[in-house]
Amino acid sequence: MSLIEYKGFGGVLLSADMLGDENDPAVLLIPDVGQNRAAWRDVAEALVLSGRRVVNLDLREAGEADELAPHIEDMRAVLAQMGSRPVVVTAGRGGWIATRALALDGALLAAGLVLVDMPVDEDAIADDVPARLAVPALVVRGGFSPAQCSAVSDTFNAALPMGESADINECDLELASDRNEALLGQLLEFLERRQPREAMEFKAGSDPRTLRDAMGCFATGITIVTALDADGTPVGLTANSFTSVSLDPPLLLVCIANTAGTAPALREAAHFGVNVLQIGQQPTSNRFAARGEDRFANQPWAPGQTGVPLLGSSLVSFECQRESLHEAGDHFILVGRVVRAQFEPHRDPLLYFRGKYRRLHFA
Ligand SMILES: Cc1cc2nc3c(=O)[nH]c(=O)nc-3n(C[C@H](O)[C@H](O)[C@H](O)COP(=O)(O)O)c2cc1C
Repeated sequence: MSLIEYKGFGGVLLSADMLGDENDPAVLLIPDVGQNRAAWRDVAEALVLSGRRVVNLDLREAGEADELAPHIEDMRAVLAQMGSRPVVVTAGRGGWIATRALALDGALLAAGLVLVDMPVDEDAIADDVPARLAVPALVVRGGFSPAQCSAVSDTFNAALPMGESADINECDLELASDRNEALLGQLLEFLERRQPREAMEFKAGSDPRTLRDAMGCFATGITIVTALDADGTPVGLTANSFTSVSLDPPLLLVCIANTAGTAPALREAAHFGVNVLQIGQQPTSNRFAARGEDRFANQPWAPGQTGVPLLGSSLVSFECQRESLHEAGDHFILVGRVVRAQFEPHRDPLLYFRGKYRRLHFA
């Protein structure tokens, strides 16, 4: 996350958190008038995990009267500086700002508009502003608190000629058992429809990087595969290609790159260990994946009953007898028969997904 500043109306500086990959489609979060960007922080983080770039904006300090005009100009200035057309997501009276800022040429500035808990904007109705809502919209009621307004989208439609209706979807979260989750689900569905992410494609015969990214869509745990080399020195490497194979007989497998420094020792070893890492062992994962490190230097380990090095405080350590070895392209598949498994039933796992470490999240 980085802190950036936009130039608002009259040169006033507006702070914003910028989160996510700059190549991902953008979402602009606007708080309720009188609140700041902390209001959207959880949603912002969740959107990033769903592949969105998020700008979480602070409104300027409220002026004397509760004037909307400077906020509207600020928002138009920020949208112009953003470079791509974001979906704008607003809370409460932030919706008044956005509907007015996007009323005329909104389609040039934004790809969509989400109004969460926007109260009916009586002044705008009087000015006929909502009738000109120019972008697809989603009206969410009860996103933060029980619904306070029931007729927002009616006001947009009422001012249109008979038979025409604005591109508005509505949802009511008042009865949702978890408002945050329900709001996020509605947001993501709207974003997928209005601002689809481009599907990536791998084609046979080219581009191993894209294939790697495709494979990275499968979330895994992380293991350290260990063995003793011919001299009796412990060796090991980080591997997430672990799979359980069979219960009877008890078999598992890992795939090892032919180019790995530990590959010759693992090809020869009669026994090997597979240590599944817990959340606190990210440094261990890094050390066993880095070249030129003395991987066992500060690493507590103990020999198992077959002599293989087992790493202390792992989630589970499988001790295996070599069952078979299969050549498979630039890797070989090492199948082991489990002779012993010691496990820790309470800790959380260290996870790996799309090239990054992750942790379990319980909704
Ligand atoms: C999260 C993660 C998962 C990995 N999974 C594997 C794997 O399944 N098989 C493999 O051969 N290498 C895997 N690697 C790479 C090896 O750990 C790394 O190439 C190796 O340790 C390099 O050192 P070496 O050649 O000295 O053994 C993985 C690395 C990371 C960070």
